[in-house]
Amino acid sequence: MATASRGQWSGRTGFILAAAGSAIGLGNIWRFPYTAGENGGGAFVLIYLGFVALIGVPVLLSELAIGRKTQRNAVGAFMALKPGSGWRFVGGLGIATGFGILAFYSVIAGWTLAYLWGAVTGQIGGALTADESAAIFTQTIGNPALAIGLTAIFMLLTVVVIQRGVSKGIEAVTKVLMPLLFIILVILTVRSVTLPGAMEGLAYFLMPDFSKITVTVVMSALGQALFSLSLGMGAMITYGSYFPDEENVVQAGVSVAVFDTLIAVIAGLMIFPALFSVGVQPNAGPGLVFVVLPSIFGALPAGSLFAVAFYALLAIAALTSTISLLEVVVAYFVDERGWHRAKAAWVMGSICFLIAIPSALSQGGVDFLTTLPGIGVDFLSLQNIIWGNYSLSIGAILITVFAGWVWGIPRLFAAIESSGHRLPMPGVLRFLIKYVAPIAVALVLVFIVWTQQYF
Ligand code: PFF
Repeated sequence: MATASRGQWSGRTGFILAAAGSAIGLGNIWRFPYTAGENGGGAFVLIYLGFVALIGVPVLLSELAIGRKTQRNAVGAFMALKPGSGWRFVGGLGIATGFGILAFYSVIAGWTLAYLWGAVTGQIGGALTADESAAIFTQTIGNPALAIGLTAIFMLLTVVVIQRGVSKGIEAVTKVLMPLLFIILVILTVRSVTLPGAMEGLAYFLMPDFSKITVTVVMSALGQALFSLSLGMGAMITYGSYFPDEENVVQAGVSVAVFDTLIAVIAGLMIFPALFSVGVQPNAGPGLVFVVLPSIFGALPAGSLFAVAFYALLAIAALTSTISLLEVVVAYFVDERGWHRAKAAWVMGSICFLIAIPSALSQGGVDFLTTLPGIGVDFLSLQNIIWGNYSLSIGAILITVFAGWVWGIPRLFAAIESSGHRLPMPGVLRFLIKYVAPIAVALVLVFIVWTQQYF
């Protein structure tokens, strides 16, 4: 498995950008604010931050170390460390999860393209009331041909980047655009917090109301922490496999976690004040960001320019995440099945597009999919919960059990320190990987089954 033929990041910065590109995406700007809004605000945010530190960081470092040590895809990595064992199915679950997430993520990513188009043509960016904005959203996502077409375009973009390979494709795109996204977010946030009525939104987002905590809130925070950091499905095993031997894994991993969390919190600071200012309900669901944001653009000088820049960057942030999702699948077919990169990218991208069609039609396009009989939620939201919360959680338990108990802490830490950088606080990390992370995630799942509050 020569490294040269698989490709490698150009260095630590290249890796941090690419991994941050995977982590930072719709999860931060679309999923985090609406999930926080549905789950009561401040208390959810606090639990989410706790999960990022106590579960996210240990899982992230485990995945990166497994990836770098083996230089293999999610399945191959487990096969290399425990040949002939059933652990390879953990990698297999990761690949299935990559498909599952990509198949709804690409639909939302398609919405960003519609909004980019709306911003370019001037439909979005000027003054809009919340009702007008909500009407535009419903029409856009409920149009079956449009939704499928946009999903197809987004999948196509993903395939084209993946086909170009690790450093030329993935890294090049991320390098320039991530910093730009950050700057635009900060500008929009400053505008949002200075809107009339903004304080109420800030209080909702930042002041924990512990009476709002339920099993569902805790599960949503856990799922969100894993989803946002791209954990529990081998994406970071795959990205870690392109990580140069001499670089510091811990520093890179922690930087990614910090950036990702920062962007999510800034997105919250951008959305909640604006939301209260225009009178949208915080529990408005997946449409939240799309309905609220146009109100900030309308309140900015040169709002239409900001709108174009914002949706372009959001689409790109989504793209650097969809490529990491497809890369998990493609790396498997390249490493283990000997496929050409291009073939793997086109075949798997096409299959995933087909699987995405029901999600694209579930937002008003087809009634049956919009309200699934007996379940009451739409097909896309169901996929989001199954793959984005439950599957990642199960993956996180298995990965930490593998790293802490099966492969074992001495080997894990040796792999982390193989670059010559010492691991800070090894005792703490050992405790988190062996006990805290797997037990906490398992407990949340047990409570879910116990209380039968699956959604
Ligand atoms: N972390 C991405 C986001 O927050 O948008 C979504 C994601 C990408 C999840 C890759 C999982 C993954 F493997």
